Amino acid sequence: MKRKNIIPTDKERFMRENDFIVSKTDLTGRITYGNEIFIEFSGYEEHELLGAQHNIVRHPDMPRVVFKLLWDYLAEDKEIFAYVKNMSKDGGFYWVFTHVAPIFNKNKEKIGYTSVRRMPNPKAVPIVTDVYKSMLEAEKKAGAKDAMAASGAILGQLLQDKGVTYEQLINVLQSL
Ligand SMILES: Cc1cc2nc3c(=O)[nH]c(=O)nc-3n(C[C@H](O)[C@H](O)[C@H](O)COP(=O)(O)O)c2cc1C
Repeated sequence: MKRKNIIPTDKERFMRENDFIVSKTDLTGRITYGNEIFIEFSGYEEHELLGAQHNIVRHPDMPRVVFKLLWDYLAEDKEIFAYVKNMSKDGGFYWVFTHVAPIFNKNKEKIGYTSVRRMPNPKAVPIVTDVYKSMLEAEKKAGAKDAMAASGAILGQLLQDKGVTYEQLINVLQSL
């Protein structure tokens, strides 16, 4: 089933405290590995996930700029933490707190990416939901060409108002 044909529903799945959703990709974001819990939450069979682009679980509520930030960090060989709302095959959703990092081989060449997702802080999810909502609205209003600048400005303003970096904001949210 194509992700674009899936109708999002309000059925929410909740990560448990000891769950780790693990996946790996090649350099283009194509899935090369997914653990059992990834299969459980995504609702796909392993063979449907392997070789698919990781946007197979992308939820339409997610602002594009979050993924731009993710790929910008990875391009600089940096790790990134983020709150992400993902969509399962049945249209339901699940929030995760994710860590994504590059994988290097023995010759220090970048060969792919790895991601580990844990239960997001339940206190942070409503806050992130609101911020992402306003970022997504800004993206839609601005149109494709200016979308990233519009939602990036909202995130930038939030960080400036709080006087924190993106990393610090994430840490605060996860330890609320
Ligand atoms: C290791 C790794 C894990 C990723 N995990 C997710 C994920 O769980 N959910 C998601 O929507 N995108 C994830 N992405 C980002 C996707 O590759 C993609 O950029 C994003 O879904 C936006 O897709 P789009 O450009 O088609 O809108 C991941 C990327 C990498 C490299």
